[in-house]
Amino acid sequence: MNLPPPPSRAFASDNAAGAHPAVLDAVTAANAGHALAYGDDDHTRECTARFRELFGADVTTRLAFNGTGANVLALATLMASLPGGHHGIVCTDWAHIAVDETGAPERVLATKLIDLPSVGGKLVPDQLVEVASARGVQHHVQPGIVSITQATELGTLYTADEIAALCDRAHELGMLVHLDGARIANATAALGRTREALRSFTIDAGVDAVSFGGTKNGLLGAEAVVFLTPTAATGSQFVRKQVTQLPSKMRFLAAQFNAVLDDDLWIDLAAHANDMATELHRRTQDIAGVEIDAPPAVNSVFPQLPPAAIAPLRDWCFFWDWDTSRHEVRWMTAWDTTIDDVVAFAEGVRAIVGPALDADRVG
Ligand SMILES: Cc1ncc(COP(=O)(O)O)c(C=O)c1O
Repeated sequence: MNLPPPPSRAFASDNAAGAHPAVLDAVTAANAGHALAYGDDDHTRECTARFRELFGADVTTRLAFNGTGANVLALATLMASLPGGHHGIVCTDWAHIAVDETGAPERVLATKLIDLPSVGGKLVPDQLVEVASARGVQHHVQPGIVSITQATELGTLYTADEIAALCDRAHELGMLVHLDGARIANATAALGRTREALRSFTIDAGVDAVSFGGTKNGLLGAEAVVFLTPTAATGSQFVRKQVTQLPSKMRFLAAQFNAVLDDDLWIDLAAHANDMATELHRRTQDIAGVEIDAPPAVNSVFPQLPPAAIAPLRDWCFFWDWDTSRHEVRWMTAWDTTIDDVVAFAEGVRAIVGPALDADRVG
């Protein structure tokens, strides 16, 4: 088969993308001279001020090395603020904390995740009422924190109203709310491309703590935990050290965030990734053999492909399986995906899927 050259950037993950030049420049600039360690430096002070400005409130920001660490730090801090510290964490059965963190929250917090079935990776308020029926039963784990993901692991979005309803119900039931925002930038870009959009589904909705992703959106490697309600942050500086997420050379993490918070570059980068996914969907959804349930809400497309197409297409240009039982794969775009990458990939899909569909039919 005569295949076109593969795109220069594959569609594996936004984690596979490099860092944005502005981030690299900021790290280089932050390298000048000495600065006191552990956050006592001007870059970190600027960063925490920038997050206060971003959320329009006196939020507390703790920088961390990676997304799993940010989640553990957020959850451990919230857990410490609950009386007794014996509570469990409610999430979906798709949640990164439940599926892809090697049990880190359970191990570090000595807690139990109550991972509930979900439609599209989203919880609904009635599920909280149901788990709260365990309240007061000494044999059952006591739900104390709700952790939701925005954008979800399935590339779907909660509306701001849906999150507000979850927060209201959680708070009525005495639970705190954590939002895993590894892709919060993509969610913000999809829900309005403004700071107001971000605020609408976080601080205005009543979320207590956010893991604010940076690494998937053009940073070299930095995440932030932002505590939105004042009491939620209590003890977070100590918990961060205990969960091994206190960077000594914090200035380099802060400088990365400062680079993308400037002029809301973080929203532009994510909006671009989302747009590339929309374009990828537009250019592949009519190819015979490609079945896509829904257009992308953010930066991932989940097509079902003829089984015989998956290996050759992946050999030509890499991507991950998603649900092998239905031959579903994930194509993910990033801040640096170009329209040429999308066009080249769509051409390859067209060239490989058609013949594979015929092979499957014959087989
Ligand atoms: C929803 C979600 N949360 C958190 C993370 C962060 O994980 P890591 O510890 O690999 O930075 C990821 C990364 O894939 C993710 O998809």
